[in-house]
Amino acid sequence: MLSEQLKQLQGSPTAKFFRLAKEREAQGHDIIHLEIGQPDFQPLPPIVNATIEAINQGKTTYAISSGIPELREKIASVYSEDHSVELNPNEEIIVTSGAKQGILASIYALLNRGDKILFPEPYWVSYPDMTRLSGGQFLTVPMQEDFSLNQEAIKETLSNTQVKALLINSPNNPTGHILSSSELFFVKDLIEDANLMIIADEIYNDYMYIPSSFKTILTELKDWRENIIVVNGFSKTYSMTGFRLGYSIANKSLSQGILRFIQASTSCATTFCQWGAVTALEHRLDAQKVIEDVFPARRQLLLDEVSTVDGLSLDSVDGAFYGFIKYTYSDKPSELVVEEILNHANVATIPGTAFGDSADGYFRVAFSRSEDEIKEAFKRIREFMK
Ligand SMILES: Cc1ncc(COP(=O)(O)O)c(C=O)c1O
Repeated sequence: MLSEQLKQLQGSPTAKFFRLAKEREAQGHDIIHLEIGQPDFQPLPPIVNATIEAINQGKTTYAISSGIPELREKIASVYSEDHSVELNPNEEIIVTSGAKQGILASIYALLNRGDKILFPEPYWVSYPDMTRLSGGQFLTVPMQEDFSLNQEAIKETLSNTQVKALLINSPNNPTGHILSSSELFFVKDLIEDANLMIIADEIYNDYMYIPSSFKTILTELKDWRENIIVVNGFSKTYSMTGFRLGYSIANKSLSQGILRFIQASTSCATTFCQWGAVTALEHRLDAQKVIEDVFPARRQLLLDEVSTVDGLSLDSVDGAFYGFIKYTYSDKPSELVVEEILNHANVATIPGTAFGDSADGYFRVAFSRSEDEIKEAFKRIREFMK
């Protein structure tokens, strides 16, 4: 009965591990949840108040599909002030229901049926199903050991196969890798040489722990903007995951395509949440301060804790809030390792293979939890491994 189109979707590869953790919790075990990828702080009070006020003022009807002008204008002014990128809010910015819808709509906007998109592996778990849904096809190229782009392998793939687009995610989920200037230079060459289109998922760009000269590739690749779609959102910086709000930045014609996708699916992003988002951007320095006060210390704690466990290693976490931990104490597949850690240490994590087959031998922990929970999790893992 179910359409072929939907039969080929594989569902969330992380869902199984959420379920196993929940089942064990329901049996009375005290589980530390390091599998969940969302910030643990509340949205700032002014954001919540502005959203409630919008409801009280009756801003509860459909909004214009591209997003309320006040939000698009605010996004444009933030890009101008913070990143020196000038955007036309009426032509180049579309407000979406989460960055997720923005990425899906971008894939639809770029790919004809059968067209290919390439993403470096490990990749965010949703990209494959998004591509399948659009009728496109994906190719993956494993990153290098240090999680940087494997430039030779990407070039080789592009010389053998017709590829329309490259999807990059920096800071990366799950590896934390931030694209370096030289990697961006390589991306620029791909645009020039192969006329490649780029989707840049920048949802974690307020979580950076190493100096980086840019927070958006638009500052670096100004002259190649025609070929670039940037997607970002409010979930991670402002802890507004349930508001479901994001945006795309693209040229006029691609933005029109993304807009049609929205008109055919959700009509518009939730109106009163968009008013909350205007206030969020007004308070962006406060939100960045919340992150700076808490996350660098958690990251350091995670690096220190992992270094005390024989058979585990974590060389770096440059951005986002995940540790992609390599295990050498076992040669079992990562799915089994993760199940063992859950069943014996009561710590929930996500196996590397959820992010692509080449990521076996790793598991992901999120450090969007308190320092006490991180410490306790590794105490349990150390005991289990003994
Ligand atoms: C890499 C990446 N991109 C996009 C998203 C989607 O974010 P949103 O909540 O804005 O849809 C996530 C959420 O986990 C993510 O990890």
